Amino acid sequence: MKKQKTLIYKCSSCGREEAKWLGRCPECGEWNTLVETSVSAAAKSEKRYAAHNGAGRSLPQILPLSAVDPMEGSRIGSGIGELDRVLGGGIMKRSAVLVGGEPGIGKSTLLLQLAAAAETEGRILYVSGEESAGQLRLRADRLGLGAKKASMERIEILCTGNLEEIETVLNTVKPVLVLVDSAQTLFSADGGSSPGGINQMKFCTFELISWVKEHDAALFLAAHVTKEGFIAGPKTLEHMVDTVLYFEQNDKTTSLGGTTDCRFLRAAKNRFGSVDEIGIFTMGEQGLAPVEDTDRLFLIRRDGVVPPGVATAAVLEGTRTILVEIQALTIPAKGTMSRVFSDKIDSGRVSRVSAALEKHLGLQSKPGLRLSDQDLYVNAAGGIRITEVGVELALACALYSARTGLALPAGLAIAGELSLTGEIRPVRRLAGRVKTAVNLGFNAFLGPNAENQPIPELKVAHDIKSAIRLIYGTIN
Ligand code: TYD
Ligand code: MG
Repeated sequence: MKKQKTLIYKCSSCGREEAKWLGRCPECGEWNTLVETSVSAAAKSEKRYAAHNGAGRSLPQILPLSAVDPMEGSRIGSGIGELDRVLGGGIMKRSAVLVGGEPGIGKSTLLLQLAAAAETEGRILYVSGEESAGQLRLRADRLGLGAKKASMERIEILCTGNLEEIETVLNTVKPVLVLVDSAQTLFSADGGSSPGGINQMKFCTFELISWVKEHDAALFLAAHVTKEGFIAGPKTLEHMVDTVLYFEQNDKTTSLGGTTDCRFLRAAKNRFGSVDEIGIFTMGEQGLAPVEDTDRLFLIRRDGVVPPGVATAAVLEGTRTILVEIQALTIPAKGTMSRVFSDKIDSGRVSRVSAALEKHLGLQSKPGLRLSDQDLYVNAAGGIRITEVGVELALACALYSARTGLALPAGLAIAGELSLTGEIRPVRRLAGRVKTAVNLGFNAFLGPNAENQPIPELKVAHDIKSAIRLIYGTIN
């Protein structure tokens, strides 16, 4: 008897089809992208191909790059400034954006606020596989969308995770903005053998991305990330989408004296903008509110008294300069090896900076000041994760101050990259950093040489030794 259903394996990244499963796609070289697909699904994509290119299998059109209309992917304002900032100036048409984050961080809230605020005349479809229509309505009311009737009325909702249903609706409604909550709830009859599995999620995501690319729309896809499931879950979707945003939260359990509970939206990948920008929000009674005045958010009011182990870094986050208090603590190592406990600054960076500090100040020969036999704890006030290299000099100063018990002067802000040789390397936009610090009441700035303009508040340090001498007059 003839087999009812033939299975083939289709690459979810480039679409290559294989008769048997392979770990790596021979076409695009991606790993684990071959997805079991029944022939009916393959036939469907064939049909789509035919519809798009005329009935015959003619050669796909090739264009000189210069003939491509640069307006093809124009942007739509999201209506949420902090989101536009992270996206690189608005939502790119024909793009797919993945919004990842832990449950409860605010992904659904962000998508609903986006649906209400997006600056487009076109239709907006919110697909929810997680919440019922009633729950969505409750959230919308909580966000105060009921008051703005127009923004509520234009959001059309569909509560399902079934890809076939979603595609049918998409083809009828033809929305310009498609919001899907969440990737994990998507399933399709053609998506492979295990419903709810990763292959299902990848297959459905691929189909939705294809749809928006063909219909001049944009897709936002929420995805849950848990610490354990990070690699197996949304990570596997990253290569398919154009932009990957992750929602992070600062640690609510630590009391940071006056700083607010913030959520940070960061781009991990962005085909249409930089990945340096962060969006900063607070979650309030009416949903996510942008934080515009970020200047003081990561500083703790000290009234002129700074405890040892505290240094203020002037770092860049995209186009913003922020001043952030770096806190360090050193205690004799509990084990045979010294360890680094640092979530907010990469622990590799902390180890490197402490090694350079110890070596170039000669601390290894001073038992009371050695760092290599200490456990190092490092934190950033306000819970912001800092990746910018300009934080290194402040980190070195905080570590030195913690180890010696000598506080840094109040009113001192610091920026600079510390090389392994102990030299302090220039950083981008030094003058801007000094200006922001001065505006916030800092009266001195320690940093590398600024090549072109003289900056009155700047004390120039060429290496870590001269930096410590400038601060304390001597090395203890
Ligand atoms: P949610 O957007 O559902 O998170 P996710 O989709 O990422 O799982 O909601 C996040 C949390 O925020 C939830 O615990 C409720 C809270 N919240 C507020 O504090 N204020 C609000 O206005 C809303 C809508 C939610
Ligand atoms: Mg949700």
